[in-house]
Amino acid sequence: MTVHPVPARSDFPADFRWGVSTSSFQIEGAGREDGKGESIWDRFCSQPGRIRDGSDAQVACDHYHRYPQDLDMARALGVNAYRFSIAWPRILPKGRLGLGAVNEAGLAFYDRLVDAMLERGLDPWCTLYHWDLPQALQDEGGWTVRSTVDAFVAYTDVVTRRLGDRVKHWITHNEPWCSSMMSYWEGVHAPGGRSLPDALQACHHILLSHGLAIPVIRRNVTEAQVGITLSLHPITAASDSAADQAAVRRHDGLRNRWFLDPLFGRGYPEDTLALLGEAAPAVQPGDLAAIATATDFLGVNYYFPEMVADDPTALHSPMRSRLVERHGVERTGFGWEVSPQGLVDLLTRVQRDYAPAVIQLTENGSTFEDVLTPEGRVHDAERLSYLQRHLAALKQALDAGVPVKGYFAWSLLDNFEWAEGYLRRFGLAYVDYPTQRRILKDSGLWYGRFLNE
Ligand code: NOJ
Repeated sequence: MTVHPVPARSDFPADFRWGVSTSSFQIEGAGREDGKGESIWDRFCSQPGRIRDGSDAQVACDHYHRYPQDLDMARALGVNAYRFSIAWPRILPKGRLGLGAVNEAGLAFYDRLVDAMLERGLDPWCTLYHWDLPQALQDEGGWTVRSTVDAFVAYTDVVTRRLGDRVKHWITHNEPWCSSMMSYWEGVHAPGGRSLPDALQACHHILLSHGLAIPVIRRNVTEAQVGITLSLHPITAASDSAADQAAVRRHDGLRNRWFLDPLFGRGYPEDTLALLGEAAPAVQPGDLAAIATATDFLGVNYYFPEMVADDPTALHSPMRSRLVERHGVERTGFGWEVSPQGLVDLLTRVQRDYAPAVIQLTENGSTFEDVLTPEGRVHDAERLSYLQRHLAALKQALDAGVPVKGYFAWSLLDNFEWAEGYLRRFGLAYVDYPTQRRILKDSGLWYGRFLNE
C-alpha cells in the first residue's frame, strides 16, 4: 500500500472550504421546547428495542442552548464553513402549512444560530432534511406518499425566505439511501418500515422533492448554491469470477447509480429497474426532468468501501448479492473498513462517470472507543490517523483532477448516532454527557493545528 505523507493545509487550494458537519436531531436536544413538534425519530426512540442503548435525543448535546460555545469551538478550530441541518418539526410542528401555523420560535432559533455563525466567520451550509420528518406527516404515510413532496417544498419555501438573506449554501437532502432504504425497507431507521416497494417509492419522492425544491430556493435566495448529499460507496468484487463481477454491477445499481443516474439526467438505471420488477416506484410524467434539475454541487459522504459476492440465495434483495468482509484490514468501532484509497477510487469514479462541476465532501469521519483520561485528554490516535490519511487521499483525488472544493469532518461533537444511540462517538470533540463538557480530542487538536498553520 502506498504511504502518503500527511498533507498540510497549504497543499490545498487557498479557497478550499474547510468545515465540520452536524445535524439537528443528533445534537440539538430540546425535544419539546419552543413549540417543536414530534419527529419520526422522537417516536422511534420511544419504541422499546429500536435504539441499541435504549436512549433518546431529548437532550443529546444540548446544542439548542449551548450553540454559542460550540460555534466558538468551531471557530477556534479554524474552519471556515459549518454544516448544520434544520429540524422541520421546529418550523412546522405538524409538518405542513394548513395543519397549523409556522412556529416563529423555531425560525427564531435558526436565525440566532445562523447569526452566531456569521459573527464567527463561519459560512453556514444548511441541510433541509437530515431525517427528522414531522411525525404528523408520517401519520399520512411519510415519504411513501406524494403529498409529503409538496409539504417539503412548502417547508423549503418558509425556511429559505427567512434565512436566504444570510445562508447561501443549501443541501436539500442528506443521504437519501438512509432516509429511504434503511428507513422503509431495512427497518433500522425511523419509521422502521420493512417493505422494499415502500422504500423505493419513498426514495423517488425524496429525489423528486429535491428537484422541486431547487427553483424555490433559487427564487428566495440570491446567489444560492444548491446541492444534494449522497452516501456513496466504492464497490469491489470478492473474487475475479464473472458471477462476483456481475454482483458488483447489480449492487452498485441500487447503492450508487439509483441516485446518481436520475440526478444526472439519465433516469433510473435500466438494469436495476429490470431486477426490481414490480417493486419499482410509480413515476409520473415530468418527475425525472424535475429530479434532474441542475445543481451547483454534488455533496458526497464517504465512510467505507463495500465488497460483494454473488448470492442467488439472498432472497431478501433483488440484487442477489451479499456483503463480504475483507480480512486483515483496519476497521472502525462500527466495523467499517478503513480505506483512504476507497475515497480516491470513489471520487475518480464519480468524476469519470458523471463529471459534476463541483464536488463537496460533506461528511467523512470515524468512530472508535474513546477514553477520557484523568488529565482530561482523549488520545484518539486511530481517529487522528483516519483523518490524516483521508486528507491525503483527498489531495490525491484533487491532483488527479477531481473538482473537490470542500471537506467537512463528521462531526464537530460526539452525538446521538441514530439506532446506536450514544454508543458511537464520531466527534472531534468528546462530549461528557453527564456534564455536557466538550473536550477536544487529539484528532480535533490536530485538525485545529492543520487549519491554523
Ligand atoms: C452519515 C449521516 O449523515 C450522519 O447522520 C451519521 O451520524 C454519520 N453518517 C455516521 O454514521
